[in-house]
Amino acid sequence: MIELLRNRRSIRKYTDKVIEPEKIEILKEAVLRSPSSRGIDPWEFIFVDNRELLKQLALCKPHGASFLEGAALGIGICAEVKKSDVWVEDCSIASILVQMVAQSIGLGSCWIQIRNRNFNEQMNSEDYIRKLLNIPDGLKVESIIALGYPAEKKEPVPRENLKYEKVRINCY
Ligand SMILES: Cc1cc2nc3c(=O)[nH]c(=O)nc-3n(C[C@H](O)[C@H](O)[C@H](O)COP(=O)(O)O)c2cc1C
Repeated sequence: MIELLRNRRSIRKYTDKVIEPEKIEILKEAVLRSPSSRGIDPWEFIFVDNRELLKQLALCKPHGASFLEGAALGIGICAEVKKSDVWVEDCSIASILVQMVAQSIGLGSCWIQIRNRNFNEQMNSEDYIRKLLNIPDGLKVESIIALGYPAEKKEPVPRENLKYEKVRINCY
């Protein structure tokens, strides 16, 4: 796991290669194995591989989502908010875990923040996506994870760049 973390970077450029069904199954397993507070599992996941939908989803906010158009897959990570007061944490854990598992099977990925983001001045990104993917009102959308085979290579962050001053021992 630490080796995966050492090499982890956000990948926003993808090849045209389709993700094999066995790998899609692994990604499904990864999100479903994510731990959630009190084991409530408030999340719901929407796997989007339809090219037209990916193109529309890429427009969900003015910045930071356009690369979804070139992704092989987008995973919408949502939660039924009434089920848990910590759904943001639960969705975030599923988001990062699926990114790490994706990396472990040769895929690149990038988190696209949806919660608290806007499509335009009139509509938030969540409602734009809700309409597009037919998401019921009780669900909130935390993120979309864009995935695909990497078409860019990024260097790992060197150890000397880590902000060790942010780690304190025993008290602040
Ligand atoms: C909570 C969260 C939200 C993020 N939202 C976006 C986003 O909307 N669009 C994007 O391109 N990258 C997004 N990222 C990726 C970060 O920009 C990226 O992790 C950061 O710049 C560090 O780069 P690295 O992942 O390559 O180490 C997000 C990452 C996190 C953890």
